[in-house]
Amino acid sequence: MPEHSADDPDDRSRPETDASSGPSRRTVLAAGAAAVGVVAVGAGGLAWWTSTRDSGPDPAAPVGTDGAEPSGEAADGSVVETFREPEVRASTDGRLDLELTAAATTVTIDGRSVRVLGFEGGMPGPTLRVRPGDRIALRLRNELDAATNLHTHGLEVSPEGNSDNVFVMIPSGGAFDYAYELGDEHPPGVFWYHPHHHGTTAEQLFAGLYGAIVVEEPDPLPVDRERVLVIADISFDANGDLATATRFDRMLGREGDLVLVNGQLQPTMVATSGERERWRIVNACTSRYLRLRLDGQRMRRLGIDAGRDAAPRDVDELVLLPGNRADVLVDATAGADAVLRTMPFDRGGMGAMGAPRSATVGADLARFVVRGDAAASAAPVPGPTAPPRDLREEAVTGRRTLTLAMGGAGGGMGQGMAFTIDGRTFAEGRIDLEPAAGAVEEWTIVNTSTMDHPFHLHVWPMQLVEVDGAPVEGVDRRDVVPVPAAGRVVVRIAFEGITGRTVYHCHILDHEDLGMMGVIRV
Ligand code: C2O
Ligand code: CU
Ligand code: CU
Repeated sequence: MPEHSADDPDDRSRPETDASSGPSRRTVLAAGAAAVGVVAVGAGGLAWWTSTRDSGPDPAAPVGTDGAEPSGEAADGSVVETFREPEVRASTDGRLDLELTAAATTVTIDGRSVRVLGFEGGMPGPTLRVRPGDRIALRLRNELDAATNLHTHGLEVSPEGNSDNVFVMIPSGGAFDYAYELGDEHPPGVFWYHPHHHGTTAEQLFAGLYGAIVVEEPDPLPVDRERVLVIADISFDANGDLATATRFDRMLGREGDLVLVNGQLQPTMVATSGERERWRIVNACTSRYLRLRLDGQRMRRLGIDAGRDAAPRDVDELVLLPGNRADVLVDATAGADAVLRTMPFDRGGMGAMGAPRSATVGADLARFVVRGDAAASAAPVPGPTAPPRDLREEAVTGRRTLTLAMGGAGGGMGQGMAFTIDGRTFAEGRIDLEPAAGAVEEWTIVNTSTMDHPFHLHVWPMQLVEVDGAPVEGVDRRDVVPVPAAGRVVVRIAFEGITGRTVYHCHILDHEDLGMMGVIRV
C-alpha cells in the first residue's frame, strides 16, 4: 500500500472504500448509535488496534473494569499515574521566544508506534504559558510536505501582519516569524494553537497538529495540582498510518476512532482525597462534540474559553464544541474512583433518507483514581477579580443576521454539496462583514441545515444571549457558540481594542475547508 500522509491534498479524492481498512466508519457509527450505553472507543481502526496488540486487556474495554490501561498498575497492584502532559514553554520577563517545527513524527499510543504530524515531535505540541502583557515571538518551521500556517485560537491579539494572521501561507520547507502582543487586559484562560490553512485545516489538525496556550491569572487560584487536558480524536488505517477521510466523512465532519487525552489512550490520573485540582480542558477534535462527565467526583465550572464565570458552579456534564475550552475545578473525594468520559451526541446528518448521520459514540477518556480517605477540600474558591462585562446591558450599534446552510448545489448529497454562510462559500479576496471599530453588534445566527454547526469568530469573543429562543442565564462569553440544526442563536460582540481582517467559520473544520467561512474586517 502506498504511503500517504494526511497533508497530501490528493488523498481527499481517494475512493470511498478501501478494502484494507476494515469496516467503514459509517457502519461502525450505525452500530454505535444502536448500542445501549457507552461504547468505549468505537470504529474501524480499532480492529487493527486490537488485533495488533501483543498482550494486555482490550483497550476498547471501559477503564476501571479491568484496569484497561496496563501501565496504570504496578506489579504489586497499586495504581500509578500514567497521565502525561506536553512539555511547557513559559514566558519570562514578559517574553516567550520559541520555535515550533511542524513535521511528520512517530509517537507511541498505548504501546504502539504510529506516524502522525506534530509540533516539536509531539502530539500535542508544547503547552505555552504566558501572562497578560507578554510578547510571544514564535518561529514556525514547516517541514510538512504541504503548506501550513498557525492560528492562536481565542487569543485577543491582532489578526494582521505577522500576528494571528490566517491569510499567511508558509510553503513546505519554509518558515515564518510570528509575533503576538497580549494586551495588559488580555483575559486569562486556556487557548490553543492549530494550523489554519484553508482547504487542509481539518486534515492537519486531525493528524496531530495542535497544542495548548495558558494565559495565567495575576493571582492564580490556590490548588494542589493543575492539569492541562488536550482532547483530540484520530484514526489509523490497517497499516498504522493516518486514516484518510472520505467525501462523506468530510461532509459529516470527520471523527476519529480513538479519543486521546494529551496523545494518550485512557491515561490514569492519581490524586489524594482532599486535594483540589484545576483542569484546563481543550476540545481539539476536528468535528467531535464532547459531553464530558466525571461521575462520582465533584466537578465545578470556573469558565468557558476565556476569563472566569462570576462564580464557580457544580456541573454534572460539560458540553464542549470543537474549539471550546473549559476551566474546571475537581475536588478529589474519598472512595469513588471516576472515569472522565464523553457521552454520545447526535449532531444531525445530511438530511436525506438513508443518508449518514453524525451519531457520535461515547468514549472513556481517562481514569481518575483517588487514594486516601480525607474529606474533600472545603476551602472557598476566590471569585474573579472583576465581575464579567454584560453586553446585554449595553446599547447595540448594529444588528445582523447570518445564515448557515447546506445545499445540494446541483445534486443532493454528491460532490456538489455546498456549505455556505449567507449563500456563499469562502473567498479570500472578499470582505463579507465590516463592522466599525468600537461597535457593539447583535448577531442572529440562523442554521437552516439538518446538522449542528459550531460557529467561531476570531479575535472578538461573543456573548451568548439566546439559544433557540431561550434566554441564556448569566454572562456566557465564548468564542465558539452552538448553532443547532434548524435553530438559531443570538450573540453580542464588542468590536473594541483590536482592528483588522480575519475570519468567522464553522469549527467542524471539514465544513470550514468546504467553504463555510467568511471574512470580517473591523
Ligand atoms: Cu480554531 Cu479559525 O479556528
Ligand atoms: Cu480561532
Ligand atoms: Cu458545520
